[in-house]
Amino acid sequence: MFYDFDIPVRIVVGEGCSAQLGEYLSIAGVKKVLCVHDKGVAEAGIVDPLIENMEKAGIEVGRFDEVLPDPPMEIVEVGTDVAEKEKPDAIVAIGGGSSIDTAKAVNANYTNRGTLKDHALNLNGLQILPYDNPLKPLYVLPTTAGTGSEVSPTAVVTDKELKLKLSIASRDHLPKVALIDPALMVGMPPPITASTGLDALSHAVEGLMGGLALLIPSPMRLSFALTAIELILESLPVALKDGKNMKARTGMAYSAFMSILGAYGGLSFGHAVGHAIGEVCEIHNHGFLCSSVVPQTVEYLEEFIPEQITKLASLLKVDPDGKSVKQGLQSFYRECGVLSLKEMGMDMSMAKEVAHHATLGQYYLIAPKKPSEEEFVQWLEEAYEG
Ligand SMILES: [Fe+2]
Repeated sequence: MFYDFDIPVRIVVGEGCSAQLGEYLSIAGVKKVLCVHDKGVAEAGIVDPLIENMEKAGIEVGRFDEVLPDPPMEIVEVGTDVAEKEKPDAIVAIGGGSSIDTAKAVNANYTNRGTLKDHALNLNGLQILPYDNPLKPLYVLPTTAGTGSEVSPTAVVTDKELKLKLSIASRDHLPKVALIDPALMVGMPPPITASTGLDALSHAVEGLMGGLALLIPSPMRLSFALTAIELILESLPVALKDGKNMKARTGMAYSAFMSILGAYGGLSFGHAVGHAIGEVCEIHNHGFLCSSVVPQTVEYLEEFIPEQITKLASLLKVDPDGKSVKQGLQSFYRECGVLSLKEMGMDMSMAKEVAHHATLGQYYLIAPKKPSEEEFVQWLEEAYEG
């Protein structure tokens, strides 16, 4: 097995770059788009100027504005019905990870109806399958800095029947162009800035110890993850204090997609547990949930990542051992106002079921050492009080 970096996404970053949307579409010969977003970004005044920008470039725009957090499969079906009616030749996603993931899933379902679940990683091990029919080109404009969905092949959707978050993965989901404009992020309130920013931190830290990252180490992947962590440590507290600070917003915008590039070897127990709490307890706060047990995960896997521990410790300015890095991360969480599991309303009587769910996904499957369900419960008890 070899390190293989294959990203076809054109990544454009900078204040104001979203104003080039119409031009990019027009040059690509796009005549009609389906614009996928939620009602919140529309109310924040972000969507209308972009639609105007596309229309000025002669592009016809259809809209699907029913995106929900942790996108349910039913909403993907509704969006697909809209796409079949509108018949777009490209998809534009404006919003956070939920909007981008919904756009990916709608795109795949529109072009290959009924085959989405065949691409679910939870059901198909580690396969990343191509679709039979080509997907429409996807253009994404993230309005949060955290999920990194703009450079990820994965669409996470919730299957309420299975009580599972399905990571549906295919290289075909990747956007054609990501216009990453920190000016679209200045209106993000502090709790969303913190939650999405800590999601990015989790991606980068978990990326240091994902199963494939340990099997096929790469200085390239490592450099993405470590630079993302450095950017988050310096930018997130500033963005929380002053949302209009463009240097901090730009740093976070870079960290979001760099952390995902650093996690191309897989994530770890932070996301395994975060997804499990979301599935079992129906709490919707991906960023805070996924960060909740990352510090414990680092300490648990420290024997596999001695060099990474040294580098993390240097960035966090703590002693180079697992326990100190764990405490350094927890202290950064507190600085960013992370909510404890208690504050998010988790019912600890469900901890055992959460622990069991955490053992079901691919992040657990590919881990070099696996905590027992009892160990997961202990971690949850520790994260409960924060
Ligand atoms: Fe995440």
